[in-house]
Amino acid sequence: MSVKKTEKIWHNGKFIAWDDAKIHVLSHVVSYGSGIFEGIRCYNTPQGPAIFRLKDHMRRLINSGKIYRMELPFSVEELSNAACEVVRANHMGACYVKPIVLRGYGQVGVNPVGTPIEVYMACWEWGKYLGEEALEKGVDVCVSSWTRIAPNTLPAMSKAAANYMNSQLIKLEALANGYVEGIALDTHGYVSEGSGENLCIVKDGTVITPPLAASVLPGITRDTVITLCGELGLPIVEQMIPREMLYIADEAFFCGTAVEITPLRSIDRIPVGKGGRGPVTRQLQEEFFAVVNGAKRDVHNWLTPVGIPVGAASTR
Ligand SMILES: Cc1ncc(COP(=O)(O)O)c(C=O)c1O
Repeated sequence: MSVKKTEKIWHNGKFIAWDDAKIHVLSHVVSYGSGIFEGIRCYNTPQGPAIFRLKDHMRRLINSGKIYRMELPFSVEELSNAACEVVRANHMGACYVKPIVLRGYGQVGVNPVGTPIEVYMACWEWGKYLGEEALEKGVDVCVSSWTRIAPNTLPAMSKAAANYMNSQLIKLEALANGYVEGIALDTHGYVSEGSGENLCIVKDGTVITPPLAASVLPGITRDTVITLCGELGLPIVEQMIPREMLYIADEAFFCGTAVEITPLRSIDRIPVGKGGRGPVTRQLQEEFFAVVNGAKRDVHNWLTPVGIPVGAASTR
């Protein structure tokens, strides 16, 4: 997925040109993976571009840093304002906003104490992560031979760059074997999550998703799905899922900022339910898109308008 560059990137409170957002090769993050980040979507709504669950993403960013003793020099409010500014400065409409915090140039050993903490924020246009048809038709996935990071190794609740080396193994293996994505099991053999998204199954009318103890990222879309299920009267439980439940589920779907809500059509070549999008997944998708696109009243204050008047933003 190549990036379509925009004009400006926010760096420690100031804008710099996209091409100037460079780091030294000896920056701590390069050798030791000491970066944390977020992935946030901005949607076009009738009120203009609006960022979905912005403060929740920024809270998670700050928490990701706290776990690694990285104190961010900006508050949730400051980071949220910066996200709106970066969308405005680049005249974007619907786009993907990526805050990145990294340990920069200073110390060259493992010990990060004394390395500067650099905060960047960029945005660019981003379409459908698993392809245009995925939302309707579903995707074919496999269970990975790679296990998700164990709880006492890399903390899954921190959205740390280093975790994504594990994600890359899962993704690359899946692609090499002709699948779109892989599902990792946790170290106990229970279902965890995809390389970059959470997972839910539907069995006998109940939506089931693995608990945080199954080495999953506390996904903001996952939380949105839990809330929407409650509002729609769909029973939802957080429960350990044995691998075989994937094969006998009535429905299964991924949820995440990138994939939004994407149905799973088959797992390890076994059709999920009837082998397509099921009715519960469809109902949740409809509700989700009505909320993020501003078609429904935003009762949770999940949308933050970036302050570009309707029609003025590029729809690139
Ligand atoms: C490993 C992993 N799990 C789950 C998610 C979904 O989280 P969210 O819904 O907050 O995007 C992501 C995406 O950020 C992820 O990278």
